[in-house]
Amino acid sequence: MKKIIVTGGAGYIGSHTVVELIEAGYTPIIVDNLCNTSIQNIKGIEKIIDKKIKWHNTDCTNKSAMDKVFATEGKIEGAIHFAAYKAVEESVQNPQKYYDNNLGSLKVLLQCMSDNSIKNIIFSSSCTVYGMPDVLPVDESALFKKAESPYGETKQICEGMLKDDTCNSVALRYFNPIGSHSSALIGDCSADKPSNLVPIITEVAIGKRKKITVFGDDYNTPDGTCIRDYIHVVDLARSHVKAMNFLIKNSGKHAFNVGTGIGVSVLEAIKVFEESNNITINYTIGPRRDGDIEQIYANGSLVKSKLGWEAKETLEQAMISAWNWEKSKK
Ligand code: NAD
Ligand code: WQD
Repeated sequence: MKKIIVTGGAGYIGSHTVVELIEAGYTPIIVDNLCNTSIQNIKGIEKIIDKKIKWHNTDCTNKSAMDKVFATEGKIEGAIHFAAYKAVEESVQNPQKYYDNNLGSLKVLLQCMSDNSIKNIIFSSSCTVYGMPDVLPVDESALFKKAESPYGETKQICEGMLKDDTCNSVALRYFNPIGSHSSALIGDCSADKPSNLVPIITEVAIGKRKKITVFGDDYNTPDGTCIRDYIHVVDLARSHVKAMNFLIKNSGKHAFNVGTGIGVSVLEAIKVFEESNNITINYTIGPRRDGDIEQIYANGSLVKSKLGWEAKETLEQAMISAWNWEKSKK
């Protein structure tokens, strides 16, 4: 059973990935200091897999604490690095917090890997590295534009750190992850006030908010609202298993888009939520949000040909699971 260190494994995407790793026969070891999640996700993983999961309550930026994790665990096949802060707006207000944690955690992890002769790392990157692409669907060869936030800049810098290191790496550039595991036992437990589209829709559905404001309907898109590529988090989690299988057999540096390839507008997303869950969502049209890009969706040819991965879950399934997660929250 190959051991995989999963930093941030108690978080939203990490917890789903831990479940998929176990189902694929890996032994994930979670390293998470719970700074932006809840112990509920660990308990949820254990309920889904029906056994205990090994985890360390450790800050990944703390080298001596991380040394202890690696010393305790013995032979490790590779690492999947989710641990980072992710709130774009907060990163504009407090950039240092983002540089310290997002760059610091990768730096320490790479040092530990080198000290222990571990070569393989999968990194959580983001489509934010592309900014507004010149060509759609965007492929991995697109040049990075100037980052729109310190958060985005940390993702660009981390990809550079991986290129400069001696490790074998896969940077997975996630598009817009949504939804939850079908059990509704794990999900996004972050302390951040939701600012992403789908969590806001579910908050309107449950009555925590009166309405959602659609940020602009005067974009150059078919219905005037922005277009994104919404990917079910379970599909996204599966891409990490494929990436680890690939990395164990293939050395070098790699980057892959992880999206569905389908562009969906804000109004279409609201409509699919309404129809999938039989709920009406109160919305109004408001002004554009600063920094929003008009449209982005993935060219998924490379990830399909190299990793054999493509999205399987539908947008309807993602919207149903997002609603089930909202209803399950206490
Ligand atoms: P999340 O906040 O739910 O998960 C991150 C986890 O890392 C949390 O459990 C947190 O407690 C932990 N963590 C953070 N800093 C740590 C540290 N120093 N030491 C130990 N644990 C630490 O976020 P997520 O949505 O699951 O995102 C996971 C990764 O994917 C992040 O790197 C994020 O930037 C990236 N990403 C997320 C999205 C998205 O929309 N959710 C999109 C693209 C990329
Ligand atoms: C989606 C669409 C909004 C809220 C962010 C990060 C990015 C990545 C994913 C981590 C946009 C519209 C939203 C609302 C709205 N994260 N919207 N009303 O902006 O694509 O990306 O999350 O790497 O880095 O920037 O996602 O969910 O915020 O917005 O109309 O109340 O929904 O304008 O078009 P975004 P989002």
